[in-house]
Amino acid sequence: MRVLIIGGSGQLGRALAHEWAADDLLLPSSQACDLSSPAIINTVRELRPDLVLLPGAYTNVDGCTLDPERAYRVNTLGPKYVALACQALDVPLVYISTNEVFNGRATQPYREYDQPDPINAYGRSKWGGEQAVLQHAPHAYIVRVAWLFGGPRNFVRTMVRLGRERSLSRDPLRVVTDEVGSPTYARDAASAVRQLVEHGIPGIYHIVNSGHCSRYELARASLQALGIDVPIEPIALAEFSRPSTPPAWTPLHNSAAAALGIELRPWQDAVTAFVQSMDPDQ
Ligand SMILES: NC(=O)c1ccc[n+]([C@@H]2O[C@H](COP(=O)([O-])OP(=O)(O)OC[C@H]3O[C@@H](n4cnc5c(N)ncnc54)[C@H](OP(=O)(O)O)[C@@H]3O)[C@@H](O)[C@H]2O)c1
Repeated sequence: MRVLIIGGSGQLGRALAHEWAADDLLLPSSQACDLSSPAIINTVRELRPDLVLLPGAYTNVDGCTLDPERAYRVNTLGPKYVALACQALDVPLVYISTNEVFNGRATQPYREYDQPDPINAYGRSKWGGEQAVLQHAPHAYIVRVAWLFGGPRNFVRTMVRLGRERSLSRDPLRVVTDEVGSPTYARDAASAVRQLVEHGIPGIYHIVNSGHCSRYELARASLQALGIDVPIEPIALAEFSRPSTPPAWTPLHNSAAAALGIELRPWQDAVTAFVQSMDPDQ
């Protein structure tokens, strides 16, 4: 099977490539397959994939707030172009989306059928991408993930690096307690995406490790799993100044994939597996 991954160099893209390694993988660069250009429609058609995976996106959340036009081009128009190509080829498309399509004011974890209501430019651009894909791609999977870790740049890795740097000085890390979400190990998510595609039932899915936590709890679990003893000072989101406001409370509940028997391990186990697999020099 010819599997095209758009965004294959990213954190989740690499995990997806690992999952489909035995297939005929097509991994164009972001220049060769640029989501911000309509030329991508013909590029995808000429590659003749049997399956298209689209983890590629402009993922810099603050950058999206500062340049919403770029966010719209890459995260909304790009998926629309890819969906049109998939429609022409009549092949399935997996579009990776985000917890940030929700407003973060829920009191229960978000279900697949809850109404998106993004509060920042990144979330709006990804929600636009979801709608474009559902409108144009005949066999589309919308897979929402959250708080990804598993690659070289992510919150878990940053906490471990800072924890190691401060283990002598014991300067406290300052981490927010009132941003709550569902950590997602890229490897676990990629394996679940593969199982979803094998089931062949398109639709909206929430693919996250089970349970949820605050950023503070995630930092603490990441350090504890490696025995790094550094104080962590709880702070509020309001004390942490950044251009974009994240939705505060966005745990995702997996109902649709669970109905197919696809469930991810608890986030604590996934974090432990990841940090213990990390190269201590990185
Ligand atoms: N990271 C998270 O915590 C998180 C949470 C929820 C949802 N998500 C979603 O999960 C997906 C994967 O996230 P990630 O963290 O793995 O992303 P990432 O590591 O930032 O990788 C993004 C990928 O997109 C590619 N890309 C960027 N601009 C592009 C363009 N104009 N045309 C084609 N490709 C382009 C990048 O290529 P280059 O390397 O060449 O720039 C890279 O391969 C994204 O759709 C994101 O919205 C992420």
